[in-house]
Amino acid sequence: MIDYKEITKQISTILQIKNEEGLNEIVALLQQRIPHYSWIGIYVVDNDMLHLGPWAGPQATEHVIIPIGRGICGSAAKTGTTEIIPDVQADERYLSCFFSTRSEIVVPIKYNCTIKGEIDIDSNQKNAFTKQDKAFLENIADMLGPHIHKL
Ligand code: SME
Repeated sequence: MIDYKEITKQISTILQIKNEEGLNEIVALLQQRIPHYSWIGIYVVDNDMLHLGPWAGPQATEHVIIPIGRGICGSAAKTGTTEIIPDVQADERYLSCFFSTRSEIVVPIKYNCTIKGEIDIDSNQKNAFTKQDKAFLENIADMLGPHIHKL
């Protein structure tokens, strides 16, 4: 059983103590504690582009810069709405990173009504992301907002 509440508390503590330096720790924590989160990355918006910041996972991605509007990541950054893709192969916007990825969630990070970045998570399981993941990650994104702003 995944204790989302306890993980949220830990993330809050990391942010209080370490501020933006804690972002590396947060992506690592998410990967360790939530088995269906296979790869986690935080992208930061700069000049109409998404730039990959801290990430945790078995492999680096080639998509370190993504134009806003491209791929699932670029779509979420454009609309400011969470994207849940239950089967990445069925979505023509999908930019492939890892052979093992089956589903994906992208949650925009906003601060002062502006999109500052996003949390991107790939799962090796099909249809891995539930409403609970969405609510959990949207709350984490709200917590990250002020810290992404300072990057
Ligand atoms: N799949 C994403 C690209 C980023 S990788 O998943 C790390 C997309 O379609 O935008």
